[in-house]
Amino acid sequence: MASERKATLIIEGREPVEFPIMTPVHGNDCIDIRTLGAKTGLFTYDSGFLSTAACESTITFIDGDKGELLYRGYPIEQLAEKCEFLDVAYLLKHGELPNVEQKKTFVNIIKTHTMIHEQMARFYQGFRRDAHPMAVMVGVVGALSAFYHEAENFADQTQRNISFNRIVAKLPTIVAMAYKYSMGEPFMYPRNDLSYTANFMHMMFGTPCEKYEPNPVLVHALDTIFTLHADHEQNASTSTVRLAGSSGANPYACISAGIGCLWGPAHGGANEACLKMLEQIGDVSHVPEYIKRAKDKNDSFKLMGFGHRVYKNFDPRAKLMRKICADVLQELGLENDRLFKLALELERIALEDEYFVEKKLYPNVDFYSGIVQKAIGIPTSMFTCIFALARTVGWMAQWEEMISDPDLKIGRPRQLYVGASRRDVPPINQR
Ligand code: CMC
Repeated sequence: MASERKATLIIEGREPVEFPIMTPVHGNDCIDIRTLGAKTGLFTYDSGFLSTAACESTITFIDGDKGELLYRGYPIEQLAEKCEFLDVAYLLKHGELPNVEQKKTFVNIIKTHTMIHEQMARFYQGFRRDAHPMAVMVGVVGALSAFYHEAENFADQTQRNISFNRIVAKLPTIVAMAYKYSMGEPFMYPRNDLSYTANFMHMMFGTPCEKYEPNPVLVHALDTIFTLHADHEQNASTSTVRLAGSSGANPYACISAGIGCLWGPAHGGANEACLKMLEQIGDVSHVPEYIKRAKDKNDSFKLMGFGHRVYKNFDPRAKLMRKICADVLQELGLENDRLFKLALELERIALEDEYFVEKKLYPNVDFYSGIVQKAIGIPTSMFTCIFALARTVGWMAQWEEMISDPDLKIGRPRQLYVGASRRDVPPINQR
């Protein structure tokens, strides 16, 4: 929101230039520098977007110092305790939590879209069995755009709603099929008598040979993991979805781009990397050695699951995830799980260590989510797919917010060129 206040830019030898200051509902004021180039011929340089707001948004707010995360104003702790993932999906998309009637309708709509086109199921055969499931996800989700052409008509609100419902309903099926394909097991069709998350577990762990009954404690844990990962402001993958969508691209292609970005170990791939790291450390007695390596500037090793660009005190999702982790391990009789004990010890030592304290490096959501997922029976290579399944809800809400903005402009950052200055192509024998 624009305010009366102005920021003045003083450049030596030039007249001062004023820019409006925008005041948000929560968070940092922003200097509106959109006219900077036109007024001064200068650009700002902010590689990594450390101080740049790329959009206005009404969806999610993070206060990194307080360790607060709000979806549409509601604290994540309350949503995790009082709502199911589909309530949260509805909230992120429509701005308000559903009432009883709206929820019933929404759940039914999602159930009618859970199957994927039979022809799509054949795509999987084209992938190597040992392909990383995130690579499969990038392909299959992007291919939805080849099946649902009407999604391109997103000026129409009805089509936008259908695209959202369709992709939210199909992601569990697509993820579970990627898993089943990698295992060489038959695909399981969705069961619409089950909840969203219980059905996902059925498609992951059921076989045609016997009836699978999902454990309610594990269903609740996984549903909460989905809620905790549903949205997270303008992170790398969400910004990727927005940037891709700003050209008017098909929404499924944009989500596929987001999945590709999420895959990286500094983002959604961190839970997989974190579990691999715990396996690598192996034993509590090796923790000091790895802490030492994490602090060594000449060693590329980092403590995966530690640190966050925005949270500088604690990650509220990590607190909730730690509790879920304890609940799941207790339910499964795994309280003495080696990796969980190792994680606790690593957390304890790192939180006391001067380097980690000074740099405000705390466990993030991924530190515990890998242990929970492993206990549930989800293989490490599937962790980021679970993240993608949940984050699709946030990506679609953010995509829709962007695409409905009357001031939408294609995203097109500037650059600071530091390459060769203009030169002529020499003949081949003089190169
Ligand atoms: N272990 C050791 N040192 C670290 C770590 C770590 N996990 N994270 C940051 N540092 C150091 C880093 O070397 C730098 O030191 P210096 O100031 O001496 O150069 C300092 O702390 C600041 O780090 P940064 O990389 O500049 O901070 P950033 O905001 O750019 O990066 C991060 C944030 C999450 C990419 C980074 O902390 C990291 O790579 N963590 C491990 C990967 C991880 O767990 N990622 C999941 C993020 S949560 C899931 C999500 O929301 O996507």
